[in-house]
Amino acid sequence: MNTKISIQAVNKVFHTTHHHIHALHDIDLSVQHNEFVALVGASGCGKSTLLRIIGGLETMSSGQVLVDDTPIRGPGRNRAMVFQDYSLYPWLSVIENIRFSRQLKEHTRNDSLSDVASAVDRSYVLLELMGLDTVKDSHPNQLSGGMRQRVAIARALMSKPEVLLMDEPFGALDAQTREVMHDLLLHLFEVEKSTIVFVTHDVEEAIYLADRVVVLAPDPGRTDSIYDVPLPGPLERHQDLKMAPEFLELKKVILDRIRQTSGVQTDLDKLQRLTGRRQAAAGA
Ligand SMILES: Nc1ncnc2c1ncn2[C@@H]1O[C@H](COP(=O)(O)OP(=O)(O)O)[C@@H](O)[C@H]1O
Ligand SMILES: [Mg+2]
Repeated sequence: MNTKISIQAVNKVFHTTHHHIHALHDIDLSVQHNEFVALVGASGCGKSTLLRIIGGLETMSSGQVLVDDTPIRGPGRNRAMVFQDYSLYPWLSVIENIRFSRQLKEHTRNDSLSDVASAVDRSYVLLELMGLDTVKDSHPNQLSGGMRQRVAIARALMSKPEVLLMDEPFGALDAQTREVMHDLLLHLFEVEKSTIVFVTHDVEEAIYLADRVVVLAPDPGRTDSIYDVPLPGPLERHQDLKMAPEFLELKKVILDRIRQTSGVQTDLDKLQRLTGRRQAAAGA
């Protein structure tokens, strides 16, 4: 296996007027070519910051990130991002949204006619792959959340990115739609052979999709633990696996880690002490 993304001693400190937030502390992580890695952890542990740094949308305070052995210096065509809120252009149709960033680039690069034709072909392939052929002329406000997110993913894939960075992309969808999107994403991952870093707060989603799950801990944001997922390859995964003993066991281990690192356990302890005291006071 060869390394696609190498994150080396990355630190990120945000400076606000009153204090400094150490969002990431000495993060070291390698993601292999064609690997699916999920980042999980309590809210505020730096998942989005790390993803944005890999995407070149955020600077780091120290350390470096290499993609194919080359340090990143900002956004690039080899990486694409998908966010929770779809970020589609409401005045453009589905097919226009998918082609939009590509069309912008055509104005700045002297693409040949065959380049333009292959881009058109690719947009049709993506429409079909994402199950969007019947809505290609619809506008975003005519689509469900799941369909909108399909458009956002298709648009991200338009430039054939080698690395797909996804920040809670299914966070706004209902449970059934999420399941459909999970299977669609696994299928896509197999067909496109990209490398995926996927941020989620949903541990079940992380295990179902990923080859490895990385747990981040907060204050300061750091790598707590990394787990290999003992499930078959993307196309052999199916929803019933979520009930398999090895799936449930891993889910429990990871949830325990998140609870312990996030301080939620401490809050629970406090609550129990409080209710205990209250009961004692009521009995007195
Ligand atoms: N632009 C910013 N300015 C100041 N603080 C920020 C900024 N972005 C994120 N943070 C802080 O950095 C920490 C990590 O945030 P984030 O990466 O969004 O966490 P997560 O995605 O895991 O919830 C949090 O404490 C957050 O408040
Ligand atoms: Mg986040």
